[in-house]
Amino acid sequence: MTKAARSLITLDTLDRRTLENLLDAAERYLSPHAATAHRTRLAGEAVALLFCEPSTRTRFSFELAAHRLGADVVALDEGVSSRTKGETLADTISTLAAMDARLVVVRHRDQIMEMLSAELPSGTALVSAGEGTRNHPTQGLLDALTIRRHRPDFEHLTVAIVGDIAHSRVARSTARALSLLGIGALRLIGPPAFLPADTDLPGTVTTQLEAGLEGADVVIALRIQRERMAAGACPDIAAYRSAYGLDRARLLAHAKPEALLMHPGPVNWGVELDPDLGRWPQNLINEQIRNGVAVRMAVLDWLAGERRDAA
Ligand code: CP
Repeated sequence: MTKAARSLITLDTLDRRTLENLLDAAERYLSPHAATAHRTRLAGEAVALLFCEPSTRTRFSFELAAHRLGADVVALDEGVSSRTKGETLADTISTLAAMDARLVVVRHRDQIMEMLSAELPSGTALVSAGEGTRNHPTQGLLDALTIRRHRPDFEHLTVAIVGDIAHSRVARSTARALSLLGIGALRLIGPPAFLPADTDLPGTVTTQLEAGLEGADVVIALRIQRERMAAGACPDIAAYRSAYGLDRARLLAHAKPEALLMHPGPVNWGVELDPDLGRWPQNLINEQIRNGVAVRMAVLDWLAGERRDAA
C-alpha cells in the first residue's frame, strides 16, 4: 500500500535530529561545486512552484535549488492560470500531480497548508514557502543554518528578534528552530501592537528595546508587514523608527560588539534598519539568502527521498 508522502508545512512537528540532518545536508550543498555537482539527484522529478503571494528570495531559491538538483521546474503565474476561472488551489495541485509534478511548493497569504495537506493526491509532497502569519519553515531552517555556521554553541547564545513579531511567520518558524536547537535565550521585542498574542511561542516578550538587546549575540530585525494588517492599523513609521529602528549606536550600546545582524528580507532600509548597518561587519543578510538555496536543496532532496521510500 502506498504511504502518504512526507510534507514540510511547519517546524512545529519536526524533531531535533531531522532538523539537524537537514542543516547538515544544506552544509554539503554549500560547497563551491554544489551548483553543478548534483544535477542528476532529482532527475525525473518535477517541482511545481505555486506562489500566490509576492516573493523574491524564497521563489528564486526554490527554483535554483530544484534546477541544481536536476529536477524539471514548472511555476504557476496565478493571474493567467485557471485559478482565475474558479479552480481551487487543491484542484490546481491535483492537476499538476496528474502531470507527475509531485513536489509542490506553495506560498499563500492565508493559513491553508493543513487543508491542502489533507487534500493532497497520494504520493505528492507539499512544501510551505510561507503561509499567513504562522509558518515559514525553510526560512526558520536557513536562519538556524546561518547562525550555526558562525556560532554553533546555541546553548550559550542570546538571540533578539526585533520588530513586527505579531504578523511574522519568520519569527515563529525561526523561534521554533532555535528552540529545538536549545538556544540559551530568545527575546521577542516590539511595540505592544507588534507583540504576539499566541502564548505557545518560545522566548520572552518585551517592549523594551534596550533591555531586549542587552548582551545579544544575534539580532534579527523584521520588516513591518503592512500587507497583513487591517487598513489604518500600521503605526506611524517615524515614531516606530525612533523607538525600535536599529542603528550602529544602538547595537554598539547594548548588543555584544561582535553581534551577528540578520534580516529575512526584504529590508525597508531607514525603517527597521539604518542604511549604515549595511556595512555592519557581521551583517549576514546576503549570507542568509545564499544559505536559502542550500537549505531548499536539502529540503527538496529529503522529501523526494521520502516520497520514493513511500511509493
Ligand atoms: N524572506 C522571504 O520570505 O523573502 P521573500 O518574500 O522575498 O521570499
